[in-house]
Amino acid sequence: MAELIVALDLPRASEALRLLDRLPEARWVKVGSILMTREGPAFIRTLIGRGLSVFLDLKWHDIPNTVAEAVMAARELGVSMATLHTLGGATMMEGAAVAAGGELALVGVTVLTSHDVASYGRALGRTDIDLETEVRRHAAAAIGAGLDGVVCSPQEVALVRKQVGEGPHVVVPGIRRRSDPLADQVRVAGARDAVADGATHLVVGRPVLQAQDPAAAFREFLEEARCVVS
Ligand code: C5P
Repeated sequence: MAELIVALDLPRASEALRLLDRLPEARWVKVGSILMTREGPAFIRTLIGRGLSVFLDLKWHDIPNTVAEAVMAARELGVSMATLHTLGGATMMEGAAVAAGGELALVGVTVLTSHDVASYGRALGRTDIDLETEVRRHAAAAIGAGLDGVVCSPQEVALVRKQVGEGPHVVVPGIRRRSDPLADQVRVAGARDAVADGATHLVVGRPVLQAQDPAAAFREFLEEARCVVS
C-alpha cells in the first residue's frame, strides 16, 4: 500500500483548489515550481489549512547553506516532505537533513523520469552510462547522507528498494495507465507494479489533471495505490 499524491501542476491556485473540491479523498498534494512561483507560501498555508499533507517539490540543487536555509523555511511552513537533487552532493544533503530536524521528510531525486539513457548521458557529457547503476548510486548517496528516502522512476523501484532496505521512502512519479499519454515522461509504469515493487508514495499529475473525469481517474489510482501486496 502506498500514499497517492496529486501533483498540482496547474497555472493558478484557484484551479488547484477547484480540482481538490472534486477529490475529497485526497490526503497528499504536491506543489512544484509552477504554483510555488506564482502563488507562493500563502497557497501552501491554504492547503495545510484544508488538512492536506504538502509535498514541496522544488528539487533543490544549490550550495549547502542555501539549501539548508530553504529547508528551514519549508519546515517553518509546515511542509511534510520536500525534494532535493542528490547531484548536489553529500555536504548539501547532510546539511539539509540537519536543517529538517526530523520534522519534514527529505527525499533525493535520483535520475529524472523524463531522461532516457541517451539524454542523461548527454547531460553529463558521458557515453558510458548505465541508468540502473546511476539510480542505485544516487539512492545510496541520499540514504548515506541521512535523507529519508529517494525519488525514482517506477521502472527502478525494485532495485532502489533492494539498495536502500525496508525503511526509507521510495517516491515514484511517472505513473501511467496503458491509455495515458506519456507526454514528456520516458521511464513510466503502472501504479500497481510500483506498489508491488515497494513504492511508499505515488505521484500522479496529468493522468488526473487532464482526465475527462478527474475524480474517476483519481479513484482508479487510489484503488491501485491502496492495493495490499502480499
Ligand atoms: O503529470 P505527471 O504525472 O507526469 O507528473 C509527474 C510529477 O512528478 C511532475 O510534477 C514532475 O515535476 C514530478 N517529478 C517527475 N520526475 C521526477 C521528480 C518529480 O516527474 N524525478
